[in-house]
Amino acid sequence: MNTNSECFDQIVNNRRAYRQFDTNVELPESVVKKSLERALKSPNSSNMQLWEFYRIRSKDILEEVAGICLNQSGAKTAAEIVVFVARPDLWKKRQEAHIKRVMQHPQKNEKKKLFNSSELGYYQQIIPMFYDDSFAFFRDLYKKIYVWYKSRKTPFMQDILSKHIPIVAQKSTALAAQTFMLSITAEGFDSLPMEGLDSKRMKKLLKLPKKAEINMAIAVGKGTKEGLRGKRYRLDYDEVVFTL
Ligand SMILES: Cc1cc2nc3c(=O)[nH]c(=O)nc-3n(C[C@H](O)[C@H](O)[C@H](O)COP(=O)(O)O)c2cc1C
Repeated sequence: MNTNSECFDQIVNNRRAYRQFDTNVELPESVVKKSLERALKSPNSSNMQLWEFYRIRSKDILEEVAGICLNQSGAKTAAEIVVFVARPDLWKKRQEAHIKRVMQHPQKNEKKKLFNSSELGYYQQIIPMFYDDSFAFFRDLYKKIYVWYKSRKTPFMQDILSKHIPIVAQKSTALAAQTFMLSITAEGFDSLPMEGLDSKRMKKLLKLPKKAEINMAIAVGKGTKEGLRGKRYRLDYDEVVFTL
């Protein structure tokens, strides 16, 4: 029986970017479903879950999506492609869901959270301060002065301007993508993350609004030997890890 650590090692080592999949091997629908369910448990900023996942399964649409992914061989041979989308524009909807959730259990709201606020206060007041990007120029100006003032003597969060909003959503969506890919490996299948794609066309196909951003498309299937581009290359530990 393998330990958790050994199992995790195996999954991490076996997850590779496969540029080709075996089109004769069927991918059970449940593998992607289970992996997306796991991805939904990924850590994400303020638990706002500003993400969406589009499963491309129909043959016709898969072909179109492969074209949008610049006809990469991994996209052309995939059994399914999942498009990971960052949705910073959905912040109000998520905020409302949180407020509703907290109101259902008012006693738990006593716990202090970030910025010394109750959970309700956090979602009602602090979240809009960060996510509301109306009149962005003036808001950013105000925020810059406020951040400068607050951070003179003590640490204060710096990256709270309107340009940081989509980055926050992208970071969390990428973590979901990683959970998804590791899960696909754990289920005995393979994946290819792709940012080499036409995001404008992808957004049009998925009928997404302007502020939605494509995080990456992930092709899934059974990888072939030829789909691997040689041995894995990584920089040495000491070159990128610094201990203070
Ligand atoms: C965000 C992201 C985008 C990527 N886009 C592509 C892509 O468009 N096409 C491709 O062939 N590989 C793509 N890759 C795969 C990387 O090239 C690959 O992960 C890297 O070379 C390391 O190889 P490994 O995953 O097998 O360890 C992407 C990876 C990430 C994380």
